[in-house]
Amino acid sequence: MSKVTIFGAGYVGVPTGAHFARTHKVTIYDPDIEKINTIRQVIENQSDELHIHEKDLIELLRENHENIFLTSSIEEALKNPEFIFIAVGTPPNEKGRANLKYVCEAAEQIGEHLTNNCIILNKSTVPPGTAYLVQDLISKGLKKDVKFAVGSCPEFLAEGTAVEDLRTPDRIVYGCDDLEALDKITHFFTFLQRRDSLCSMTTLSSELTKYAANAMLATKISFMNSLALLCDTIGANVREVQDGIGRDQRIGSKFLNASMGYGGSCFPKDTQAIAEYALLQEVPLAIIESTIQINNHTTDYFYNKIVEDFQENLENTNFVIWGIGFKARTDDLRESKPVEIARKLMDNGAHVHIYDTVPGALNNFLRENPKYSHRFTLHNDQYEMFSDEIDGLIIGNEHEKFRNPDIDKLTTMRHKYIYDGKNILNNYLIKYLTGLQFQYKSVGKDSVVNGLDKAKLVSFLQDKYMD
Ligand SMILES: NC(=O)c1ccc[n+]([C@@H]2O[C@H](COP(=O)([O-])OP(=O)(O)OC[C@H]3O[C@@H](n4cnc5c(N)ncnc54)[C@H](O)[C@@H]3O)[C@@H](O)[C@H]2O)c1
Repeated sequence: MSKVTIFGAGYVGVPTGAHFARTHKVTIYDPDIEKINTIRQVIENQSDELHIHEKDLIELLRENHENIFLTSSIEEALKNPEFIFIAVGTPPNEKGRANLKYVCEAAEQIGEHLTNNCIILNKSTVPPGTAYLVQDLISKGLKKDVKFAVGSCPEFLAEGTAVEDLRTPDRIVYGCDDLEALDKITHFFTFLQRRDSLCSMTTLSSELTKYAANAMLATKISFMNSLALLCDTIGANVREVQDGIGRDQRIGSKFLNASMGYGGSCFPKDTQAIAEYALLQEVPLAIIESTIQINNHTTDYFYNKIVEDFQENLENTNFVIWGIGFKARTDDLRESKPVEIARKLMDNGAHVHIYDTVPGALNNFLRENPKYSHRFTLHNDQYEMFSDEIDGLIIGNEHEKFRNPDIDKLTTMRHKYIYDGKNILNNYLIKYLTGLQFQYKSVGKDSVVNGLDKAKLVSFLQDKYMD
């Protein structure tokens, strides 16, 4: 059992701390005392609400409470830890580069207060080389003669499944150039995970692996989104193409869903960050730049379908959005595509009615959008807002509650438009809805509703492919 301190009580820090506490003594440190108190109240059964929404996290914290210590005091946080994991935010700055302010502050604090030998690992997603910067900052601040090593241990959990991802990860990636420290890190993880899941490497490779993984996944999505646009033009169905290529083991079925674009706190920021980093290193990553461009274009493509249906005039229209989080089961609205769509609609004179299965997502929307307060209404019920004043339903995320809607409750709509931003309605349902005069719009499945213009395709081939 090792003594560990986690810097940062956010979407990564809290689940990671709760998970490490299965076998290690963990201190979770965050200067934000409110967050620390919220976790404490949950652990002490005085509340059932954390500041972040994460499935099974409350149970995990309570299960391992004997090994969890919470503090917002830096002195307490640095009482003899053997390992420190930095899990603070690295939001994008205005140039799309990772803002290292919080990482650097954490490093300076560690330097100033560290009094024992220790291994410091960066869990935050950072540009390659940051560990060396952290090492310098700590060295400069040190008041005692202690031996320390800095490495990287990027996090791959996904919001909504963080607890499960931590328990059964595909791999744990970590890197440190100090081989003695690397051995100790391996030892630390062997108490927690399957030995064959451990993936140890140099510091730089580990840092780059995180950006590379997110860029690869985002590229898969953008690849499908660019095909989706081609599908709509020629009359193919992108879900069928997705199924057809996803079953090829070399490609794999995950992250192939065409949609209104990827969002969330990681993909947009990390693709921007690696593209910007490579550009600064004068090795432009054209493929990732395209990934980002396709993503933005796909969202515009989806949004324009709505605008075109209303002849570019959204004044006095009313839309329902089901799912405001960037994906199901999260309250995190960072770079959420449904939020982007909602704001565009409101900017153009529409009123939006928002429902999400996670109450915290609605609270966050309310808090983050004061400028629009007269333009939206939040709902705790999925259907209560439907009336003859509603012009369209937008499906914002992939929650199963949205896959099979209670259609009787939608029939009162003034205009029966359904915009499926995640392509989750199946063909049978779409055809049934069409029979009830609903108009279904998606990304890459227009042919399900519009059919196929064979003559146009034949004449295209005759014109372009036959001499
Ligand atoms: N959210 C995800 O799904 C996810 C997944 C993998 C990796 N990451 C990466 O992990 C990092 C953390 O992300 P997050 O979503 O948990 O961020 P977050 O914003 O939810 O949490 C960061 C926390 O760090 C705290 N903090 C700021 N300065 C601090 C300091 N000096 N000492 C201690 N705590 C401090 C903040 O108060 C905040 O609670 C980011 O680099 C992110 O890119 C996030």
